[in-house]
Amino acid sequence: MRTLIVVLLLRCLASADDQKFPNEFKFGVATSAYQVEGAWNVNGKGQNIWDTATHYNNFIVDNSTGDVACDAYHKTDTDVNLLKNLGVHFYRFSISWSRILPYGFANYTNPDGIHYYNNLINKLLQNGIQPMVTIFHWDLPQSLQDLGGWTNPLMSDYLLDYAKVLFNQFGDRVKYWITINEAQILCTGGYEGSPLMKLAPDYNSPGIGPYLCGHTLLLSHYKVYRYYQKHLKEKQKGKVGITHQSIWYEPNSKNKDDVNAAETKLQFELGWFAHPIFSKYGDYPSVMKQRIGRLSKEQNYPRSRLPTFTMHEIRELRGSADFLGYNHYTTRICKPGTNATQPSLESDAGVTCFQNSSWPSSSAPWLKVVPWGFRKILNWIRTQYNNIEVIVTENGFADRGDINDCGRVKYMNSYLEELRDAINKDGCNVTAYIAWSFLDNFEWGSGYTQKFGLYHVDFNSPNRTRTAKRSSYNYQNIIKTGKIDKNYQPPGFQKCT
Ligand code: NOJ
Repeated sequence: MRTLIVVLLLRCLASADDQKFPNEFKFGVATSAYQVEGAWNVNGKGQNIWDTATHYNNFIVDNSTGDVACDAYHKTDTDVNLLKNLGVHFYRFSISWSRILPYGFANYTNPDGIHYYNNLINKLLQNGIQPMVTIFHWDLPQSLQDLGGWTNPLMSDYLLDYAKVLFNQFGDRVKYWITINEAQILCTGGYEGSPLMKLAPDYNSPGIGPYLCGHTLLLSHYKVYRYYQKHLKEKQKGKVGITHQSIWYEPNSKNKDDVNAAETKLQFELGWFAHPIFSKYGDYPSVMKQRIGRLSKEQNYPRSRLPTFTMHEIRELRGSADFLGYNHYTTRICKPGTNATQPSLESDAGVTCFQNSSWPSSSAPWLKVVPWGFRKILNWIRTQYNNIEVIVTENGFADRGDINDCGRVKYMNSYLEELRDAINKDGCNVTAYIAWSFLDNFEWGSGYTQKFGLYHVDFNSPNRTRTAKRSSYNYQNIIKTGKIDKNYQPPGFQKCT
């Protein structure tokens, strides 16, 4: 009898533990330079491609700019206080390349840029918050775009030059580096020319530009990683990773063709950038090499539109990250076949995907709330890439900016439950979760029409006043307790229905 009681007690304790994130698990929030800083032409900053896009192109839905954005450039003290109060372990932010190197090249460094980030990093550390720095989050200096941007293979040297400046200036204090944010979205939105997703520089090169862009970004990444490994790792003792995003692609049915279609789509999205770095044999996924090679031939191209790596590059890329930064938001359902015009990324994959209309929506048309997809993709990553360390570097919900943001609270709670189970029950090696976003901010082509922040920003006030939303209190409680309490009711907020 006594043994039974002890066993039951132990089980009870184990399942109670299952409800908690591991003790060493870390939480954070994220932003990126162009989306929050403002001060676009202040104190020596050079022009970048988002300055150009917002001033001269017309694909931003509300015609807005990031000229002022959240004015984070002028609000370091306010923001660090908010972060401290929130209780985060990490603040993930990006460095504006053209604030550091106004002309893109490393021949001239802007002292004000160095000063600004030094101050931010120091204040974070003084308050017990680890800076996690994204080296490049889409805001390429215009001078480098004028040379072809990421379609120009020389860019890999320029990114390395810039990264060296950052390591030298900040590497004594920054221990988490992310080379590149979401190369797949950047190359697709910026170089494919699809009307569905537009990002600067808004090139129109379907089925070609994105692969060139991706290739250069992958080569740039390994150069930065290998440089750090060789010259700085011993001294600075930091970790260098890369951030990829992926939707979870669920097969439309158990049918083999549907299962293959979903798998193909995953390989074309996450595999495109993760396979060369994290898989056992490296290089692009074989399904990409095969399909793009075959279609390019049929389309009469003299060679595959997907560039090839040399053996040396394959070796250098393989294993070139200390962790996978992973951004996840939503799920889609896939089946084989597409009517997409050729050549294009979509016709290369040859898969059609859609979302279930019954899934709860957000203010972003692409973002439906499907928490179970999160656990599935984390397990896909675990099995595909030998359970490498994953840091969730973004996850979040878009609404119109309510302070009592019940939609965001529900989203976060339910996605975090899936993450917790992926860790505790499935053994996924996820060590931290970083919510997107700390503040409401400039959401690229959607301008200020979609809000992702845990803190509201009043974009009509010159002060850009920040107000804590319900979700920030909810998150604060999760960080404090290591647990998700779905009934948590912060004082002063109306109950969620
Ligand atoms: C991905 C990007 O990294 C970030 O800049 C963007 O705002 C969010 N996802 C939301 O779309």
